[in-house]
Amino acid sequence: METKTTVIAPEELNKQAEICGEIRAHWAAAGRTPRAFVDTYGCQQNEADSEKIRGMLAACGYEMAETEEGADVIVLNTCAIREHAEQRVYGNVGALVHTKRRHPGQKIFLCGCMMGQDHVVQKIRESYRHVDGVFNPHQLWRFPELLKYVLSTNKRIFAAEDSAGSIAEGIPLLRQGGVKAWVSIMYGCNNFCSYCIVPYVRGRERSRRPEDILAEVRGLLDQGIRDITLLGQNVNSYGKDLGLGVDFADLLAEIARLPGDFWLRFMTSHPKDATKKLFDTMAASPKIAKQFHLPVQSGNDRVLKEMNRRYTREQYLSLVEYGRSVMPDLVLTSDIIVGFPGETEAEFEDTLSLIEQVRYDALFTFIYSPRKGTPAASMPDPATRQEKNAWFDRLVTAQNRISEEIHRSYVGKTVRVLVDGVEGESLTARTEGGRLVRFPGPADWIGRFMDVEITGHNTWSLTGQPK
Ligand code: 5AD
Ligand code: SF4
Repeated sequence: METKTTVIAPEELNKQAEICGEIRAHWAAAGRTPRAFVDTYGCQQNEADSEKIRGMLAACGYEMAETEEGADVIVLNTCAIREHAEQRVYGNVGALVHTKRRHPGQKIFLCGCMMGQDHVVQKIRESYRHVDGVFNPHQLWRFPELLKYVLSTNKRIFAAEDSAGSIAEGIPLLRQGGVKAWVSIMYGCNNFCSYCIVPYVRGRERSRRPEDILAEVRGLLDQGIRDITLLGQNVNSYGKDLGLGVDFADLLAEIARLPGDFWLRFMTSHPKDATKKLFDTMAASPKIAKQFHLPVQSGNDRVLKEMNRRYTREQYLSLVEYGRSVMPDLVLTSDIIVGFPGETEAEFEDTLSLIEQVRYDALFTFIYSPRKGTPAASMPDPATRQEKNAWFDRLVTAQNRISEEIHRSYVGKTVRVLVDGVEGESLTARTEGGRLVRFPGPADWIGRFMDVEITGHNTWSLTGQPK
């Protein structure tokens, strides 16, 4: 597929940095520190983009606020993956009318995947007149310029041009702290699964250069980050557009060679592009976490074909088998869509049988949601909502049983965990496979790797005692 990547020139980004300086000076002259609230919907890619938005806001002199109340700038980073996500955004944007009335100088921006859809931008323009600015994912790096425009003119701005896709290095980042970090290694998606809006709103696949990624990871390790997740819509096709002869497995291996004690993870993988080389690379490095999120979506070949997934149930199962043959403790998770247009009960039952066969550690399950402009949205969809809900419940019940059984098998074992937070009386930690463990201990253990004996479990988490 043709890839048109627009590399944002350093001069352009320098210009944005200068604008940040101007905004900072504006607030310094006003004699107070402005506050910003950034609210994120959706996936980790959006969380990672929000870190950039916060970074740009911090460079403009803003302090981060915990709520929208009284904030000088509000940014909602939106998600378009399912209708429910969009409805939540519309509801919350609507409620901001009142917040803004209490704080008339407030500027409200919307960005993220919803803003990659013309019909949404149109609706915001016409029906949500308290929104001051909109930018789509390609325009994110221009946020300082958009903010300055809105602050200095009090006019609205809509930066929703459909560029083929941009890649910008050197945008400031403000991470929320802690021991974990996400690193975007590529943007966009070329797969056009027939139900999915992502390729339309995030553009074609474009990979960051390996040296830029390595430099970012080195910086994170120097700051004490111990758990790094490489992010992309389909990390398995990393590097194809660069032509450097570096594929995703090579990138992983290179990062895993960096000195220090850390776990390296990644998401999301498309099964059609997951290679034996990738599994072998994971198996060979103690720093690459033995965790694989491998969305299957359906266990039925006809449905997989209609979804344009380009693998069969058998091919998927043999991939899983190979992964487990080289990593017997591999923690496997997946995404499943229930009620794809035209799915029959028997086809749904193929998905049920697949999850019984694979025995995933955990699943993310979704009822199909039509997305305007995608091929699936115009396919006949005879199954009723009640039928789909019933299938969904059967799937969740089966998976909960499996997750509970797998968690039960941890009891009595000692596992290595990374302590990442405090929750009430307990510390929270993650195993190498990403399972949540709670156990007693002091807050200054956060950031430590330690051994914990597992003493209890439920469907979603484990409890233990430090060794
Ligand atoms: N309806 C329901 N679920 C969807 N997903 C993507 N698009 C849709 C849709 N239109 C799910 C897929 C994907 C996950 C991120 O969201 O399972 O892997
Ligand atoms: Fe959507 Fe498929 Fe791309 Fe994932 S691989 S983002 S499901 S089109």
